[in-house]
Amino acid sequence: MRARIILIIGGGIAAYKSLELIRLLRKRDIAVECVLTESATHFVTPLSVQGLSGAPVHTALLSLAEDSQMDHIALSRSADLLVVCPATANLLARMANGFADDLATTLLLATDKPVMIAPAMNVRMWQHPATQENLRTLRERGCHFAGPDEGEMACGEFGPGRLSEPESIVTAIEDVLFPHKPLTGRHVLITAGPTHEPIDPVRFIANHSSGKQGYAIASACARLGARVTLVSGPTALPCPDKVIRVDVTTACDMLAACHAALPADIAICAAAVGDWRLAETATQKRKKQNDAPPVLTLVENPDILATLSRSGPSRPTLVVGFAAETEKLETHAAAKKQRKGCDWLLANDVSPGNGVFGGDHNRILFLGDESTESWPSLPKAEIATTLAERIAARFSPSSR
Ligand code: C5P
Repeated sequence: MRARIILIIGGGIAAYKSLELIRLLRKRDIAVECVLTESATHFVTPLSVQGLSGAPVHTALLSLAEDSQMDHIALSRSADLLVVCPATANLLARMANGFADDLATTLLLATDKPVMIAPAMNVRMWQHPATQENLRTLRERGCHFAGPDEGEMACGEFGPGRLSEPESIVTAIEDVLFPHKPLTGRHVLITAGPTHEPIDPVRFIANHSSGKQGYAIASACARLGARVTLVSGPTALPCPDKVIRVDVTTACDMLAACHAALPADIAICAAAVGDWRLAETATQKRKKQNDAPPVLTLVENPDILATLSRSGPSRPTLVVGFAAETEKLETHAAAKKQRKGCDWLLANDVSPGNGVFGGDHNRILFLGDESTESWPSLPKAEIATTLAERIAARFSPSSR
């Protein structure tokens, strides 16, 4: 079942980062329903929060019954986790002392679910004995904490009290929501993104791959406890938390980086590797000729998936490939799995107009050890989670 959190947004300058947190959580397929304190509404608008969360936003205790079908007791227990972000010094003090004078504190007092706190405040407020005592109290009561970080503050001071980066808060949330780490001790090697094959110092051959699916898989495997090496072509994506990223440009670089990352228990080739590179890359920018456009001579790139699938002492136990097709999906995918020698293959239709390249959804035909399954159209994060869980099941002691 999909995980669900109640996000309580406190009134501090860091409240703007809660918007990014909502976005990241939803990308990870975690449903978010938000509650804003009165002062939070001065920093972020309920409309922005509602737009990003795709769920009703609650602000006032008394209007809750009118706004939704739920009373505050039901709301406080409806989620798997309550997250307070940013947690101001004032909110921490009210929590520690059991106040219930607004919707946020009432929910926190009425809940029987775990609570995660992401503090953010001025360094002196953080260090004040009153705050430190409140923190001790909340810790003793079993609250989980994400941060704060140390660094430069909006007020110009430097020290502890800065809100953790949203990516790290997501990781802390996932650690509470998904404590089971079945891939602990496993090394997963993942390729992602496009490759760029240079023509000359300013031009290259590339493709439309965004890297989103490979990055989501890296994130899902790390969440299940794996050590993840992500060999990535050029993308605009941030490196997922707890993942080691190796940046590469060309297919040859990508293969070399994969070899360097071995041994691995699992290899997942999600990169859209360029099939060809130039036989000779010009060292200076090619100039327009008057008579005719240049003829580019191409040579074949190494096939990373096929290379990793080849039997030998360094072959990962499980090798997973992808196949982007525009027609005859099942036939082409089955032939590709055979030809490359991988164990599993995830095929998708990337015909123009279906929004897979760069989009957030994908529709997979899964060719497993023995059977083929058609998965419904799903967010890429959910495909990643499903794949990571399948891998974990395959490596679990009971399946051997
Ligand atoms: O041959 P095709 O590009 O369709 O194969 C797709 C699969 O092979 C993907 O898993 C992709 O990452 C991998 N591949 C590779 N090296 C190449 C070409 C494709 O690893 N040179």
